Amino acid sequence: LTSSTLSVVVVGASGDLAKKKTFPSLLNLFADKLLPSATVIFGYARSNLSDNELHERIKPYLVEGKHPEEVVDSFLKLVRYQQGSGYGDENAFQDLSVKIEEFEFSNDSEKHFNRLFYFAIPPNVFAETALAIKKTCMQGEDKGWSRLIVEKPFGRDLKSFEELNKTLSKHFTEDHLYRIDHYLGKEMAQNLMVLRFSNTWFERVWNADNIKMVMLTFKEPFGTEGRGGYFDKYGIIRDILQNHLLQVMTLLTCEPPTTLEGNGAGNAIRDAKVHVLKSIPPIELEDCILGQYEGYADDPTIENKDTNTPTFAVIRLKINNPRWAGVPIILKAGKALNERKAEMRIQFKDAPAAEYLFAGKDCPRDEIVFRLQPHESIYLKTNVKSPGFSSKPVQSEMELNYNTRFWSDSKTVNPDAYTRLILDVLQGKQASFVRDDELRRAWEIFTPLLHKIDNTNVKPIKYIQGSRGPVEADEFVACLGYSRNENYVYYDQNGD
Ligand code: BG6
Repeated sequence: LTSSTLSVVVVGASGDLAKKKTFPSLLNLFADKLLPSATVIFGYARSNLSDNELHERIKPYLVEGKHPEEVVDSFLKLVRYQQGSGYGDENAFQDLSVKIEEFEFSNDSEKHFNRLFYFAIPPNVFAETALAIKKTCMQGEDKGWSRLIVEKPFGRDLKSFEELNKTLSKHFTEDHLYRIDHYLGKEMAQNLMVLRFSNTWFERVWNADNIKMVMLTFKEPFGTEGRGGYFDKYGIIRDILQNHLLQVMTLLTCEPPTTLEGNGAGNAIRDAKVHVLKSIPPIELEDCILGQYEGYADDPTIENKDTNTPTFAVIRLKINNPRWAGVPIILKAGKALNERKAEMRIQFKDAPAAEYLFAGKDCPRDEIVFRLQPHESIYLKTNVKSPGFSSKPVQSEMELNYNTRFWSDSKTVNPDAYTRLILDVLQGKQASFVRDDELRRAWEIFTPLLHKIDNTNVKPIKYIQGSRGPVEADEFVACLGYSRNENYVYYDQNGD
């Protein structure tokens, strides 16, 4: 990587995603010396801007991070601007291609010339952009690679996904395409293969014989915050469940991939994910509770003030295979709730002797919780004797807290998800990117439910901002067999 020449093109350079995620992640890689010394970054957009004006626009987001201003300024020296009249403007991309070639040849004609295109643009302009890039900026494979990063939403349902996918796959093969789902770049998601398959005590109990239920939760303490225009068209199921939670869930429940090493790993992991997705039948409306926080439609960017778009959803999935038969898999996500948290929770069945040895005493079920954020942690909720004179069982935890165990060591870096994933793209690692067949199956699972919700205008249950969501959601999960220990309070060692 370091001996090659890298040209990055951020299409949609003045948009939110580029400013908040793409440029800051490229800066992180630059600061950690993970970009080749010969790197240029072009921001492409429609506004009439000079290089300096682009720098001024993105700099506030860059200095917010952990890097000193001198580093930010050196990074900005790599960033140039290219204006186009639209995203399909072939002349503008032709201009850009000339500038890229000039840069490549001025560096060293013997090197590999790698090109990365980051689509920080809405999907309705993917097709024209892809076509313009294909016509003007692609090079022969012998010269170096050309890769494309694309972001969700990958359609609104199965049909629109297929259309979008067709336009992209006309110009680019799966080897070129990196569909980003940033939840796959989070430390705890990346951890799952090692945790599950290198530890005897996880793998041997990871099945319906021992597990009562699996629950993945995403909670945010704020609402749409000006993103209502986008959000209202998609809703929480398309925004979080169909992608982020489902993706992480596949890693939590899949069979072991055939390999985790070398070039084959990318497809082996994704084969295993597709395999488990194929065992999940489409979701029924009865398997779902929807909510909307009070005051949601007050967001000025939401046009339809009678909107029924859900901002909260709990969904029950089934995995019809021997490992998971009968185990409810619950995906739960909501905005404007009481806390910020994303976690995976495995609740085990009652201990066989609990009923007669501890009769009449409360003996809560064991749980393993993998906390993705905030503060990565793995804790095993475990019963112990109440310390001291009492012999009553009490639930406590055995915990691996990443802040105290790993991140406090200044040599161990905790890269943010986008930074890690962009580095994977530069290294050609596709394991943490979503393949077309995974997405197709994800849409097959969710589309019937989404159509029912849209077509029958299902009314979500209102909930108060800052609450746990509708009480009906807790009741639904309890009906499926989840036992919540009201007496247990998780003590976050990080102080939150
Ligand atoms: C995005 C969603 O993909 O993920 C947002 O569109 C959501 O609605 C965000 O806020 C959450 O990401 P994170 O990494 O902050 O949990």
